[in-house]
Amino acid sequence: MDSKPLAGQRALVTGASSGIGRAIAYAFAEAGASVVVNYRSSREEAEQIASDIQQHGGKAFAVQGDVSEPEGCETLFGAIEQELGGIDVLVANAGLQRDAAFTDMSLEDWQKVIDVNLTGQFVCAQEAVRQFRQQGLDPKRSRALGKILFTSSVHQAIPWGGHVNYASAKGGVKLLMESMAQELAGEKIRVNAIAPGAIKTAINTDAWETEEAREKLLKLIPYGRIGEPDDVAKAAVWLASDDADYVVGTTLFIDGGMMLYPAFREGG
Ligand code: BGC
Repeated sequence: MDSKPLAGQRALVTGASSGIGRAIAYAFAEAGASVVVNYRSSREEAEQIASDIQQHGGKAFAVQGDVSEPEGCETLFGAIEQELGGIDVLVANAGLQRDAAFTDMSLEDWQKVIDVNLTGQFVCAQEAVRQFRQQGLDPKRSRALGKILFTSSVHQAIPWGGHVNYASAKGGVKLLMESMAQELAGEKIRVNAIAPGAIKTAINTDAWETEEAREKLLKLIPYGRIGEPDDVAKAAVWLASDDADYVVGTTLFIDGGMMLYPAFREGG
């Protein structure tokens, strides 16, 4: 593969100050993209990432914006336009968990997760598509008019008790992504998703922090290890690049086999 598969690409990564988003920001820059590192509240972390990238000869900016606020995505796209003159790739990645047993889940926690993980992705994607159309196709830049990558989850398919807000949002992301891909493919806009399994980040510390939790988690992962943010970032680079030009409307699971119903290996 080309060592700079994203050369000349301008990318916005939402929720890029930690976890999978951060790894994607670094990997995109390494692959030659200019990166807008979006954060909501972790300014220092985001600025650190941008400055690391600059020190390695890359181009990056940290930009504040809450994708769940009505003007959040608009602000972000305004900043991109100003700093980079346009956008070629949106990684709609910002996401969070607010877990609770079904009857204990507050309406606020339901709403927050839907607002960030689903509506926030919708609004940013809408802005991106409008921007792609305004820019027009530049074959020297990319074979596609634009690329959108959603960060979904294995829980777009695996039901998840105790996390109904999260699973509902990710299930929504799946059909948002597929419906958009179907609607926009004719314009050469490629819409796809990455769907991580258990990746070691702050969102799921409870699942890997103690030895007991780790052992339990590993039973769900046929490949026998917990994922690293870089496992996801490498796949994201490929999906956003022209090497994946014929990949449209796909969810790429990056999960060590979590989707394979591992419990059935012994049972059924
Ligand atoms: C969740 C993690 C969880 C993983 C596998 C992810 O989408 O954010 O908390 O460990 O799915 O269940």
